[in-house]
Amino acid sequence: MGKKLQFPPGFLWGVSTAAGQVEGGADEDGRGPSIWDTFAAQPGRIAGGATPAVTCDWYHRSEADLDLMQRLGVPNCRMSISWSRVIPEGEGSVNDKGLAYYDRLIDAALARGIQPCVTLYHWDLPAALQPSGGWANRATVEAFAKYTETVVRRLGDRVKHWVTINEPWSIAALGYLEGAHAPGMKDLPTALKVSHNLLLAHGRGAAVIHSLGSRGSEVGFAHPLEWVVPASPAEKDMQAANRRDGAVNRWFLDPVFCGAYPADMIEWYGVSAPKVEPGDLETIAEPIDFLGVDYYTRTVIADAPNGDFLATRQVQYPFVPHAEIEVWEVNPEGLYRALMRLHREYDAPSLIITGNGTSLPDVPGADGAVHDPARIEFLRRHIAAAWQAIQDGASVRGYFIWSILDNFEWNLGFTKRFGLTYVDFETQERIPKDSALWYASVVREGAVTIET
Ligand code: GCO
Repeated sequence: MGKKLQFPPGFLWGVSTAAGQVEGGADEDGRGPSIWDTFAAQPGRIAGGATPAVTCDWYHRSEADLDLMQRLGVPNCRMSISWSRVIPEGEGSVNDKGLAYYDRLIDAALARGIQPCVTLYHWDLPAALQPSGGWANRATVEAFAKYTETVVRRLGDRVKHWVTINEPWSIAALGYLEGAHAPGMKDLPTALKVSHNLLLAHGRGAAVIHSLGSRGSEVGFAHPLEWVVPASPAEKDMQAANRRDGAVNRWFLDPVFCGAYPADMIEWYGVSAPKVEPGDLETIAEPIDFLGVDYYTRTVIADAPNGDFLATRQVQYPFVPHAEIEVWEVNPEGLYRALMRLHREYDAPSLIITGNGTSLPDVPGADGAVHDPARIEFLRRHIAAAWQAIQDGASVRGYFIWSILDNFEWNLGFTKRFGLTYVDFETQERIPKDSALWYASVVREGAVTIET
């Protein structure tokens, strides 16, 4: 017996992409390189020596992929803009051919009944801005505000949802603390400065969009919400989990929703904490219209004096299901709890799940189809978690799957397939997986059915 979980009318069903992961066209029509192009050129940075130069070739194939989305009946698509395609040097002259590409892309989506949700920054900083510090340089905040204005003036009449910055925590932690992502740095004070500048950039960008009054559009940023639990009820583990939650979640949510960094984390970081100038917190707390929630995992945390920068370590239980990326537990309950927490503790006005999904080692079968029942199960249970949060009062207004296509998974190159659609990166052939057809039925009915 199945139970049908019906979503409210007007719920935004969608799929997600990002320019740096699907677009390719790296050298075309005046685009400048991004930090992912220069990072990929360094030996040993990306699995298999992969580069984002072509990826899914969206620069040439986006219309065909939009046709596919239209056939699936998906009415919303999250896509990002490559800053260095629009402003090749990051600041200064605008590349009209680059802007024209996005103009056509937005029109092509709308012509197929697909509403674009546009991310302004999804990790691909113009490489020209990196020698002066990239996001560690406060001047990048102003460059981002100008870039935002350029884009919004051109596309703002048609875009209803804007995401300023995708996952400030991931950028700071992976790019400037762990060094796994571009630009590959490993320095805590720099990472914290970067997190502050990213929050400032978000606030400035949101204010620009609001001031341009772009026709009833909404703006938010996307946060990689992690559900953190202590490894045991011991006081030390509880404190360790609280530090992890402080670093990953509260450090970003408190300034945006409450206008202040969490005092316990300021104390923990001590001299490494970023310099906050007068007016910064007001800039960051520019009211947002929605919070984008990217959710992939629950994290179990233990105290570890010789562990990471938080004196913590992550615990992995052999008896808990995990994703192909093994440090990611599969935990839909964590999505439910995290959404409820945003509702209760932050009184978040409006939540849109801007990224949720999983990678699997998909291959076409003898029948030519790609059968991915584990992805369907993953998505079904996470969508059910979102449904439950709505029943319990959280204002969850949309759900976007990461991703419509297998694509360039950053430092993991092409080794991880998150798509609803299989991509053969040699031939650029697309095969919608079983999960794509399943998602089409979810969207059509506005409901998921779970076994009871
Ligand atoms: C997101 C992420 C994506 C990643 C995905 C899988 O917005 O959801 O930033 O770019 O590819 O999270 O790791």
